[in-house]
Formats: sequence, C-alpha cells, structure tokens
Amino acid sequence: MHTAEINRYLVVGNPINHSRSPQIHHAFAKQLGDKIVYDKAEVEIGGFAQFAEQFKAGGGKGMNVTVPFKIDAYNYVDTVDEHARAAAAVNTIKFSVEKQSHGFNTDGIGLLRDLSGRHGVDLQGKHVLLIGAGGAAQGALLPLLQAGIRRLTLMNRTVEKAHLLLQQPVFRNAGVDTTAQALNVLDEPADVVVNATSFGLSDEAIPLQQDLVSGAFCYDMSYGPAARFCRWADSAGATISVDGLGMLVEQAAQSYFIWHGHMPHTQPVYEQLRGADTKDAHRLPV
Ligand code: ATR
Repeated sequence: MHTAEINRYLVVGNPINHSRSPQIHHAFAKQLGDKIVYDKAEVEIGGFAQFAEQFKAGGGKGMNVTVPFKIDAYNYVDTVDEHARAAAAVNTIKFSVEKQSHGFNTDGIGLLRDLSGRHGVDLQGKHVLLIGAGGAAQGALLPLLQAGIRRLTLMNRTVEKAHLLLQQPVFRNAGVDTTAQALNVLDEPADVVVNATSFGLSDEAIPLQQDLVSGAFCYDMSYGPAARFCRWADSAGATISVDGLGMLVEQAAQSYFIWHGHMPHTQPVYEQLRGADTKDAHRLPV
C-alpha cells in the first residue's frame, strides 16, 4: 500500500477547533490544482514530539504548529531557518523523504506581507511600536528589524521581558535603534503600532493610552473577536486600524510555498474568509 502517495498535512494545537488552516490550505490547493489532505489535530500538552514522530512515520509531509506547541516544535525539529531561530519557535515543519524534519517560522513574513503588500504600509525609515514580548512579538521582531525601519520601541507590561528580548544578539545586531519600555507614553510618536499581546482574549480594559495610537497605522495580530486592540485603536484616533486576518492567510501561503514550491494567490482566500464586504475590513474584523 502506498499511503505516502497521499500528501498529508496537519495543523496541531490545543485547542484546535477554531483553526482556519485546513480551509485556507484546501483553498490554495484547489486554486493551484494540487491534491492534498490537510486535517487538524488536538494534541495533549507534553505530547507534541511523540505525535510528530507518529505523523512522520505514517508518511506525513508537513505540519503547521500553533499555540501552545511552537516552542516544542522548535525543540523537536532537526534543522531551523533564520526566522525560526530568531523566534525560538516553529510554526511550519517539512518532513523530507529522508525523514528529516525541517522547521520554519512564517509568522513574521506573513505579518510583513500583509502590512506592506495588502495594506500598503511603507516601513522605510519608520518608528515602529511593537506591544508585547511573548512568542508572537518575538516572531515579528526580526522581520520588522530587517524591513528598513529607523527605530523600534518594544513595549510590555513586564518591561524586563522586553529588555531581555532586545538584548539577544540577533536583535541587537540588526542595526536598528531599539528601546524597551513599560506600557506608558512614548518619547517620540510611532508611525506604526503593532499589537502582539494576548490581552484581546480577556475582557479587561485595553491597558494603553490613546496617545500611543493617535495618528498611527495600527495593526492587531489578533483577528475575530480577539481583535479588541484593532477596534479600540480605531476609536482612539488611529489613521487606519487593521486586524490580523491577512497575516493568517499570508503565513499560510508561505508555509504552502515551503511545502509545494509554488505560491498561491492570497487575496481570493482572504476575501473568502473576510466575508462579502472587504471594503470595510479594518472596521469589521470577522
Ligand atoms: P503569545 O505567544 O501570544 O505571544 P505569550 O507568550 O503568553 O503569548 O505572551 C503574551 C503577551 O501578552 C505578553 O507580552 C504579555 O505581557 P507580560 O509579558 O507582561 O505577561 C501580554 N499580555 C497578556 N495579557 C495582558 C494584559 N492583560 N495586559 C497587558 N499585557 C498582557
């Protein structure tokens, strides 16, 4: 039996029910005429490596990895690319015919493509405020620092975590002026504000001052109901405020490219996910 002839992919997380990755990857495959099977799997905490080994042994070609397993995946794989190393997290695994596992992180690339490609943000010479110092922020740091920006301020509730992150050589050596600080006022207004915290998942008040986003382009890495920063920034005077749905589609497209060697068109899939009215995308996150 040649089960390996079916190209099987998975997204793994806990919880995983909400994941839109199967829908996105099947839409890409339909567009490009590829035959794939892409499922989702909820894995128990602590069980990632064993699960990945079984999937590989069964002929699985690739995995996407989401919360809370991106660090487990980083520790599991045989090799990592530059972005996974900087993020210390893997969201995409490619299993080779030699049964090697190659780890990638496409989140930051997805963010940058959505920002500049879809939303037309020119980051050259800009002051970027990145809020958060957890996994999502760490994944975004290197691509942002490599995007020609002039300055990056990393803001976090626990300021020490922001300091520690910026002290890592990969970020320190990027040649960009960086500052770590708590959730308070800026000494210079930011042009672009990116929310990489998970506070949108709670129903607490947004712990930020309106001045931070007033006149800025605001980007929320969350989407759907969790995109509370996006909606708050819109009402707090942001020039434009968008949610992270486009990043979700773009990071998936980069994973698709890693696995299949060709790039899907993301806009039709983005519009399909967004729903009928894309004109008001920044105001009505799905
Ligand atoms: P993720 O992988 O989504 O980044 P994480 O690593 O747990 O998740 O990081 C969560 C981020 O959201 C952190 O920056 C966290 O701030 P602390 O480092 O101070 O914990 C931030 N965060 C979560 N809830 C928050 C809240 N209610 N107010 C402010 N920051 C919050």
